[in-house]
Formats: sequence, C-alpha cells, structure tokens
Amino acid sequence: MKGIILAGGSGTRLSPLTKVTSKQLLPIYNQPMIFFPLQTLLNAGIKDILVIVAPDHAGDFLKLLGSGQEFGCKFTYEIQDKPQGLAQAFLIGENFIGDDNVTLILGDNVFEDNFADAIASFKNGGRVFAKEVSDPNRFGVVEFDDQKKALSIEEKPVHPKSNFAVTGLYIYDRSVVTKAKTLQPSSRGELEITDLNMLYLQEGTLDVSFVEGKWLDTGTFESLFEAYTFIREREINK
Ligand code: TTP
Repeated sequence: MKGIILAGGSGTRLSPLTKVTSKQLLPIYNQPMIFFPLQTLLNAGIKDILVIVAPDHAGDFLKLLGSGQEFGCKFTYEIQDKPQGLAQAFLIGENFIGDDNVTLILGDNVFEDNFADAIASFKNGGRVFAKEVSDPNRFGVVEFDDQKKALSIEEKPVHPKSNFAVTGLYIYDRSVVTKAKTLQPSSRGELEITDLNMLYLQEGTLDVSFVEGKWLDTGTFESLFEAYTFIREREINK
C-alpha cells in the first residue's frame, strides 16, 4: 500500500493567512497541519508516501518534511500546477502508484481513528469512510438504504439525501489511475473524487465504512479553531 498526501489547493477560505503560506503548513496547536494526515498514514503502516503540493510554497514542504528519514518513511514530491481537483492526484501520481494499491489522504484532514485494520484488510475496489455531520452540503454526501448499503454519492448537494459526509481518506486499487483518466472536469472545473467514487459504486466495488472517532476538515476558521482546541486538549492530557 502506497500513500498520497494531497496538500495543494488554494485555501481561499483561510485568506489572508494563506496569502503567505500554504494552508497545510499552518499550525494546529503545536504542529503543522500536514503532520496530522502524515501521522494517520504512518499509524496505518504506510511508509512510501507521495506529497503533492502547490508550486508557491513547495520549498517549505521540503524543508519541513525532508526525505522522510526523520519520520521512518520515504517521501516523493510532485507539484500540482493548478488546483484542478482531488482526483487529479491519481494522474499526477500515476508513476508513483505503479501496480500498487493506494491510500489518499487530504492534507487538511485530522482523524482520531486508526486505519491500520481497514488498510490491512483491503483487497480491491475502493473503500471510503463516512461520518455524520451537521453541514453535509460542504461535502460529498452518501445516501444509504436500510441495510446501510451505499446507494449514491453527491458532491456538495443543495438538498443532501443524508447527513453522512465522505471524509478525506480514500483507499483504492490500482485501477484508480485508469478510472481517473476517464473523468471529465465538473462545472467548477475540477476532477471530482465523488465521480471517481461513483465509478466504483456503479461497478459494485465501493465499500463505505464509517469513521468512529473525531474527524475534522480544517479548511475554515471555525473548523481550524475546533481542531486547535481538540489537539490542545489531547496534548495536555497526554
Ligand atoms: P479544499 O478545502 O476543497 O480546497 P482548498 O484547500 O483549495 O480551499 P478553499 O476551498 O478554501 O480555497 O481542498 C481539500 C484538500 O485538498 C486541501 O488539503 C487542499 C487539497 N487540494 C489539492 O491539493 N488540490 C486540489 O485541486 C484541490 C481542489 C484540493
């Protein structure tokens, strides 16, 4: 299993902080944001990690993360020239992925869960993780039947069919690259990971599991503050 941390994007919702640095380099209490998704991959036993960054602050990521030796892993770096969607990670990462399975994690997501078992038991298809939220229209939303089987996934729906958001950790088999190549940009000009998940769902190979512990997408001032408080508590009570 290989890992990708997607840490590009424009971070416009955190402007003006993101005028001078990347969102994923901002602090969450005592650590840069990207350390949290990195730790999630390391805790899951993933040691071969591609870090995808935007051109502007690429050097700062190198300075912070280095070769990976310090973290007991190996980093490869790629630049995403323009933020053209989460699914573009699999086009940028084609050579890195090769014939392996891959776990993508978003550089601004903080998870309490340990995904080691979910990753170790993964064989093929796709596996995503849903979490009940109060503001589902910010996310990809999963509709379930009575047996908790996923029926559909909609990207940022105006009228969400459930309160379950798809969180920012995705496990795919190597067919993800071929599938990503068939995607067309959405109306907002992005290759949508929701469209990729729909391809797996239509194929009958998408497993939708659930996030048990805390999950934070730290892309807004409110969620960044919540993450700060959560990590501060955790550090103090360690
Ligand atoms: P978003 O929070 O959806 O986008 P953003 O970071 O550009 O922020 P804003 O909406 O405030 O402008 O992205 C989620 C994560 O994915 C985040 O870590 C940035 C990353 N990302 C990329 O690396 N490339 C992309 O093309 C997109 C859309 C996001």
